[in-house]
Amino acid sequence: MNAETFMLTGSMGCIGAWALRNLIREGTRVVATDLATDPVRPGLLLSPDELAQITFVKLDVTDLNAVKGVVAEHGITHIVHLAGLQVPFCRANPSLGASVNVVGTVNIFEAARAHWGQVKGLAYASSLAVLGPADLYPERPVKDDVPLRPETLYGVYKQANEGTARIYWQDWQIPSIGLRPYIVYGVGRDQGMTSDIAKALLALAAGRPYHIRFGGPAGLQYADDVARIFIECARSGYQGAAVCNLRNDILEVGDFVARVQAGYPQAELTYAADNILPFPFDLDDSGLQGILGKVPHTPLGAAIDETVGLFRDLVAHDRINLKQLEN
Ligand SMILES: NC(=O)c1ccc[n+]([C@@H]2O[C@H](COP(=O)([O-])OP(=O)(O)OC[C@H]3O[C@@H](n4cnc5c(N)ncnc54)[C@H](O)[C@@H]3O)[C@@H](O)[C@H]2O)c1
Repeated sequence: MNAETFMLTGSMGCIGAWALRNLIREGTRVVATDLATDPVRPGLLLSPDELAQITFVKLDVTDLNAVKGVVAEHGITHIVHLAGLQVPFCRANPSLGASVNVVGTVNIFEAARAHWGQVKGLAYASSLAVLGPADLYPERPVKDDVPLRPETLYGVYKQANEGTARIYWQDWQIPSIGLRPYIVYGVGRDQGMTSDIAKALLALAAGRPYHIRFGGPAGLQYADDVARIFIECARSGYQGAAVCNLRNDILEVGDFVARVQAGYPQAELTYAADNILPFPFDLDDSGLQGILGKVPHTPLGAAIDETVGLFRDLVAHDRINLKQLEN
């Protein structure tokens, strides 16, 4: 065991589950917090022995005293803040969305401020959704510091978090890195339209046809890589309030389908070529490269193979709910 103790928020989510897998496999102590208590997604990726090494704590990020309590009690040295409500949930309940996504993030910064010194690094999830439609950004690749024009409450809340981070650096020198994932795919990604990339691979593993509900160019980021990026950012020692685009694989959904079918000719995949996602896709990640040096990036073919392999194993052992394929 090294001297670090990571706290994850939202650890029962997709990226959280992959972060747990990485931290446990490298021998790092980790306190896995979430409002949810059933480790369904971590259970897809970690063995029972590995799960037993994790300290699970039920934590609502909207409860400031509870957040501070976990950081103090467990001697947290690094925080990866992933808890949040996604686009449809923020739309359905804007007040709760603001409470979890905005106030929850303020609470993480407050806890980090109260224990800075013991806490040495903080990375948090922003989102590509802070940007406006692609045509607002004619200059490509799109840099980290372009004007933000989010078109959803979710994006507005994430923008607020980036502002919170900036002021915590300005006023109290609490450094942080905010990351803006686009389409994260891999085992554990099971909610929202952009999870169709992951679900297409699950359908392949289960021998079922699948229709991806969008087309056009997209930025694909393998969940394992994204988790490692969060962990490395928390450890980077960066001084300032950075917000970073992620890039990795930029390709047409049609090309993704062709790549999958080249390796797995039995894959029955279609996609909605006319439903183009509104976001800019040609994203500049030189800011992230400047911080990390080398950005974790599993080649697309290897990530597809690993995902299909993991899904096949889960399907064979009846350990994954295939109802998610019904959309
Ligand atoms: N997956 C993507 O493609 C993507 C893209 C851009 C940004 N992000 C951001 O990255 C982060 C992680 O994404 P994910 O896909 O793993 O999300 P997810 O939806 O799978 O997981 C989020 C977790 O937050 C937890 N949570 C909700 N309310 C909470 C509360 N009040 N207190 C504590 N925990 C609470 C949920 O129980 C869930 O386990 C999120 O903040 C998300 O907005 C994800």
